[in-house]
Amino acid sequence: MARLVRSQVEMEGRYEERWTLVEDDSTPEYADGEPLAVVGHPHPRVSAAARLSGAARFISDIGLQGMTHAAVLRSPHANARVSALDLAAAAALPGVRSVIGPGDLPDRDGRPVLTDAPQYAGAAVAAVAADTPEAAERALAALAPVWEPLAFVVDLDEGLARQEFTEDPSETSRGDVDAALTGAAAIVDAEYRTPAQVQNPLETHCAVAVWEAGALTVWSSTQGIFAARDELARAYDLEPDDVRVVCEYMGGGFGGKQGAGPEGFVAAELARRSGRPVRLVYSRAEETIASGHRAPTVQTYRIGAAADGKLLGIEASAVVGVGLHGWVFPVLNPAETLYACENVHSMVLPVKLNLGFSNAFRAPGVMEGTFGFEQAIDELANLLGIDPLEIRLRNGADHEQSSGNPYTSKHLETCQRRAAELAGWAQRDGLRSQGRVRRGLGMASQIWWGGGGPPAHATVRLGKSARPTLVCGFQDIGTGTMTASAVIVAESLGVPVDTVRVQAGDTARSGYGPTSGGSMTLASVAPAVRSAAHDVRTQLLELASDLYEIAASDLVLADGAVSSRDGTLRHELTEITSKLGNSSLVGHGSRGPNPDGMRIHTFGCQVAQIAVDTLTGSVTVERVWAVHDVGRIINPMGAISQVTGGVLQAIGFALTEERVVDPTTGTVVNAGLEDYKVPTMADTPDIVCEFVDSPDPHLGLGIKGLGEPPIIPTAAAIAIAFAHATGVRIREAPLTPRRVLEALA
Ligand code: MOS
Repeated sequence: MARLVRSQVEMEGRYEERWTLVEDDSTPEYADGEPLAVVGHPHPRVSAAARLSGAARFISDIGLQGMTHAAVLRSPHANARVSALDLAAAAALPGVRSVIGPGDLPDRDGRPVLTDAPQYAGAAVAAVAADTPEAAERALAALAPVWEPLAFVVDLDEGLARQEFTEDPSETSRGDVDAALTGAAAIVDAEYRTPAQVQNPLETHCAVAVWEAGALTVWSSTQGIFAARDELARAYDLEPDDVRVVCEYMGGGFGGKQGAGPEGFVAAELARRSGRPVRLVYSRAEETIASGHRAPTVQTYRIGAAADGKLLGIEASAVVGVGLHGWVFPVLNPAETLYACENVHSMVLPVKLNLGFSNAFRAPGVMEGTFGFEQAIDELANLLGIDPLEIRLRNGADHEQSSGNPYTSKHLETCQRRAAELAGWAQRDGLRSQGRVRRGLGMASQIWWGGGGPPAHATVRLGKSARPTLVCGFQDIGTGTMTASAVIVAESLGVPVDTVRVQAGDTARSGYGPTSGGSMTLASVAPAVRSAAHDVRTQLLELASDLYEIAASDLVLADGAVSSRDGTLRHELTEITSKLGNSSLVGHGSRGPNPDGMRIHTFGCQVAQIAVDTLTGSVTVERVWAVHDVGRIINPMGAISQVTGGVLQAIGFALTEERVVDPTTGTVVNAGLEDYKVPTMADTPDIVCEFVDSPDPHLGLGIKGLGEPPIIPTAAAIAIAFAHATGVRIREAPLTPRRVLEALA
């Protein structure tokens, strides 16, 4: 029965109460001890063949009849005023179909997309669409803007000194830190720095837009097709169903592709004016300077503990180089919630700079906060002479520390003990030597959200071929949600995974699915998929029961057949479904609400082994042991792939990735993959990955998310391993050869 319930919904630590339509009172759960034929077994991606053969159409592959190509005029100055923009001259050039400038676009998030007062190098000023990319470039040149450069601030310390913030500094407090620290046996007081990091998905931000009969269709490389649809519908005052957003395949996003994006707005408006389809694909340089960043931070921690290692008080502050605007990431969440501590004071200062904007990036805030906080805990353990594993175990939290609410489930201690066991933690000092190459181990833990929530809807159809079709409103950002969903359908209907067709990534085809963000996609979608598939299963068993005159409860579905439990009867599913003719069995499912008064979190622990070449200053990550608690694992192959990607991306953060800005011009000098070093296959260590794989009793199918957890502890573990290997602490990421040699000198 359908009903509307108030439910708490969370996205990357931001909580919201909202009404949600709930059609199912509960997800049909897997019975305790029920052997599962498909779920929990490894499966390659359902899209593997399409991806490997090149048949998969990514957004940048979309080509339409009469399509034109867009280009954007961007400010070369960190702060400027633009005058004398010659839109008419650009429009008069051959092949140019539309030209727009400041004021020609609806605002996005209350900000102009095109501006004549650009406040960072890369800010969009005007845009053109032409028959060829070359004609578009000529049109940009014809705009002949006159720039009046203005003073700017790009240095974080200078920005802080000026006390100019993107929003008011915020503070949280519990207990009395100063009083608590008077009794401390040891206090760590240290500062840690993290760099600006760029998401760099392989497919840059891109969109193709076309208007037909007053309705807009946008193919968008987006993490949220429904968010993009709603943004564009609002901007153009259209009914949501008059906007269709499609994202069948996308080349990653890592948090930086929320909603329609400026690229969607620019493409839509250029297309509206010319009546022709418009394709806008950012260059790699635009990806770096105009798509947002993980904001740089300066974190300070003053942490005191008793002689037995029990935390007494934590004083934490984070200066965040937000840029011109953007979300202020929860950098101090690890300090506030990872361990039990009654006295915590934290302060976040979001500094305004003439440098792009902050944009979500896989575990935004929390991975950089973990880099600082977990190192501080390691330093505290060293001061007290306590094993770093032991200090973590002694400070385990049995409830969520900032709300006081119970966790739905928590197996962090299992992760910590298992990671230590796998890594040979107890023998770690045996790795150390005095030669040119020094080895060490470092450990760090992880807390993140990732419970997902409503709404999410799914439909499963089964027709005469007995090959089910799942229609769902999510988009697969690359995490394997389509495959995990197919696994769930296959389990319910007893058919092979590769017979399940998954239709996703199109707002016109189905009901709502969530944004691929906050590690919440599968945890939101899977219960809906399971319900829809179970609905079809029930109908199928009813038909079989009727045809074969046997109680439905005596039947099982497996291997594409229906059989009696006693084994006397067996019929291929097609024997039943072939009688359906042009009818099909249709099942619907939706995600139920989250439990009241509880907090849903994911946990994990990683140990990194590194080798430091003391002559060259290079750091090699040799092995990472990763153990995570994310509830039930649906597809271990996909889950391991998530961990591999997260660890590798964190290695970039720890060792090589850093957006570099020229202080004299305020421009980014490494806006490309030649100079901004993301890790490659060659940098991939041996990654040993395990999951607790214990279903959360309070969540549908017991599933939590896994997109972000694996990136969170790795960089901290690497920096801690550096200190173990060398006896020298580097409190700033990335640990480049220069920083290593300076620290060792
Ligand atoms: Mo968020 S970084 O989009 O998962």
